[in-house]
Amino acid sequence: MELGKTARYASATAALAVLASSFVFVLRERRRPTPLSPRLFFLLENPLTGAFVGAPLLVGRLGLAPGMDVLDAGCGPGRLTVPLAEAVGPGGWVVALDGQPAMLGRLEGRLRAEGVRNVRPLLGKLGEGALLGEGAPVVGQGGFDRAVLAMVLGEVRDRAGALRELHGALRPGGVLSVTEIFGDPHHLAARMVLKEAEAAGFRLAGRFGSFPAYTLNFEKEPVLPQGTSG
Ligand SMILES: C[S@@+](CC[C@H](N)C(=O)[O-])C[C@H]1O[C@@H](n2cnc3c(N)ncnc32)[C@H](O)[C@@H]1O
Repeated sequence: MELGKTARYASATAALAVLASSFVFVLRERRRPTPLSPRLFFLLENPLTGAFVGAPLLVGRLGLAPGMDVLDAGCGPGRLTVPLAEAVGPGGWVVALDGQPAMLGRLEGRLRAEGVRNVRPLLGKLGEGALLGEGAPVVGQGGFDRAVLAMVLGEVRDRAGALRELHGALRPGGVLSVTEIFGDPHHLAARMVLKEAEAAGFRLAGRFGSFPAYTLNFEKEPVLPQGTSG
């Protein structure tokens, strides 16, 4: 009897300790986010992520057409990069940006294994000038047609800077697509993403999903010919 009580007490204490340390971890990550370790890449591809943020689902929300130029920002090991490259075809390009060389190493292995040729891997940090100045990718007519941020924005230290950079890198009328999934320690609420994207000059153009995962699509306002009003 006494032993049972002790065991219950020990398991309750252990559960509390796990809860408290998870809480501290999430708080620390919110204040100073660290990117997903390349060793944990398997967290990105499993039946759960497949059901709520699977590549076919997210790529289908982008309204892609052959020949488009797409930025996969925070591409990780390339879960979305390869399907994006297939969707834009040989006449289009995907620039796959990531701040961690090991993630790009995984992506490059995948591109070689699958014979994908229309992807340019790019090492750099969003929010720290990766898309501006020297070394910035040069694409199509005045910028990217689409930019994808899937489970990335919460990991970026300077989100306002990153969103301004993305705004600058898209062509007028181009679309930024932001996806977040609940349970990710860097998860951002939709209302916060909306507020920050609008502050960077984007306009909400579409919503998909809800709980536990959502996508918000934002448009960079097209430039209207002089004399027309929006
Ligand atoms: C959770 S993973 C998501 C990967 C991919 N978008 C997907 O959906 O499978 C986040 C990725 O964003 C990258 N990342 C985080 N902050 C970044 C930044 N400031 N600039 C570029 N990449 C960043 C990380 O290195 C990591 O590979």
